[in-house]
Amino acid sequence: MKHFLKLIFFLLFSLQPILAQQNIITLHLDKSKDTISKHIYGHFAEHLGRGIYDGFYVGKDSEIPNINGIRTDIVEALKELDIPVLRWPGGCFAEQYQWKDGIGPVDQRPLVVNTFWGGVTEDNSFGTHEFLELCELLDTEPYIAVNIASGTVKDAYQWIEYVTSNTDSEITRLRKKNGREQPWDVKFWGIGNENWGCGGSMDADYYTDVFKRFSTYCNAEYKIASGGVFDDLEWTRTFMSEIKEVPNFIDIAHGMSYHYYTIANNWEVKGSSTDFEESEWFSSMYNTLKMEANLKDHIAIMDEYDPDNNIALIADEWGTWYDVEPGTNPGFLYQQNTMRDALVAAIGLNIFNNNSRRIKMANIAQTVNVLQAMILTKGSQMVKTPTFYVFKMYKIHQDAIQIPSEISSLNYSINEDEIPSLSVSASRDKNGVIHITVANLNPKDDLETMIDIKGLLDIKGLEGEILTAKTMNAYNDFGKAEKVQASEFKNYEIKEAAININIPSKSVVLLTLNGN
Ligand code: AHR
Repeated sequence: MKHFLKLIFFLLFSLQPILAQQNIITLHLDKSKDTISKHIYGHFAEHLGRGIYDGFYVGKDSEIPNINGIRTDIVEALKELDIPVLRWPGGCFAEQYQWKDGIGPVDQRPLVVNTFWGGVTEDNSFGTHEFLELCELLDTEPYIAVNIASGTVKDAYQWIEYVTSNTDSEITRLRKKNGREQPWDVKFWGIGNENWGCGGSMDADYYTDVFKRFSTYCNAEYKIASGGVFDDLEWTRTFMSEIKEVPNFIDIAHGMSYHYYTIANNWEVKGSSTDFEESEWFSSMYNTLKMEANLKDHIAIMDEYDPDNNIALIADEWGTWYDVEPGTNPGFLYQQNTMRDALVAAIGLNIFNNNSRRIKMANIAQTVNVLQAMILTKGSQMVKTPTFYVFKMYKIHQDAIQIPSEISSLNYSINEDEIPSLSVSASRDKNGVIHITVANLNPKDDLETMIDIKGLLDIKGLEGEILTAKTMNAYNDFGKAEKVQASEFKNYEIKEAAININIPSKSVVLLTLNGN
């Protein structure tokens, strides 16, 4: 027995350095070149469920504190995230939205049916002026999607004229009459949304022609085309090859959209956002990681037709999609948000950071009360979700120089399937500060990891922050103390230009360091 125990101890201790070696993150500071566009940290707000009404917008007469109907507590919370861009009014809703219904005296705006989301009444009280005021309050850039499926080219270009033009015209006079003298500065305009599906069931060839027609008349600085279904590479090929034939293509196409949702099971039974097994945790991680290979396939096609990187890939819808919370309207897409969502957010943002040469914007779906939200509300109450805290930790990457990374880690496996246990991205900001964001996708095992920074001689100062929780499905609930929030993290040691770190299971860690 004594010998047996000795053997066990010997094996444990002699194996430790080998185990530690199994998780290595290598950062190539010396190979940094691409800027992580701040717009990768963008958001999306659709007229869907309680996203706008009873979300961002409660109306001027609400007892909930507001500025012209826009909830003050939501604005204050979101300002912590430095949101760089907000997409509106949809989504599918964009393709039924008639912008002229949403301007002028509120009591004269028409009631319409929101056919896409729950068949509810849309009273148009939140329209162009209200959205642009929201953006001003958030200090964020607006991104407006125009209707190309049930609207005309004239509707589209007049909306742009109404918002951005300084020239005297019937349309700009109308804007002034409605209380806005100066035009707004709106750079980003979407030319349709999911035009393969809810945006008109078009094929790629037909859409590309429609895009060319609308975009030619839309006098806007940055125009974003609809992409195909996430795995429809032929759509990307058709769009890219045909747009390249337009002599001034650089003036009419600046981005192509990409949508990818993380589904734990399948579209029929997506599963609960809070009541799930480890296998569903695993598939959420697995399916989010899969997005990178798919993005690289689209990027390879874009590189083929646009080697100068003129047209950006704009991931303007992404995030988790579960079954709605029991008892809520199925058309409202209201779901809770747990530690699992925090990990999905971390993986997604790492992927976008690491592919920032071509990906210039991403907009998580959706900001308030819909899908993978930052904020959930119930009456006057509000919670910040685990996803909120990931965006808060990651905002330091905005406009920083991306540092290429490699991971060699133990796999996390379930049944036959396996994925790397770690996801990472890193950047160096304009002050030379290095930020590393790393997530441990394994919900059970901590990971001893070495981070080796090539191109750095030594580390001068290091600080850590962590987001984790006791359980996979921990979430922040109304009226209760927050179960998931970021805190200080110190479980590391510096070895010249390397860091040895013990990354707790199911956690997201931010390391901030200075060095030579
Ligand atoms: O985000 C919800 C919906 O998902 C959007 O309206 C649509 O574009 C996508 O299918």
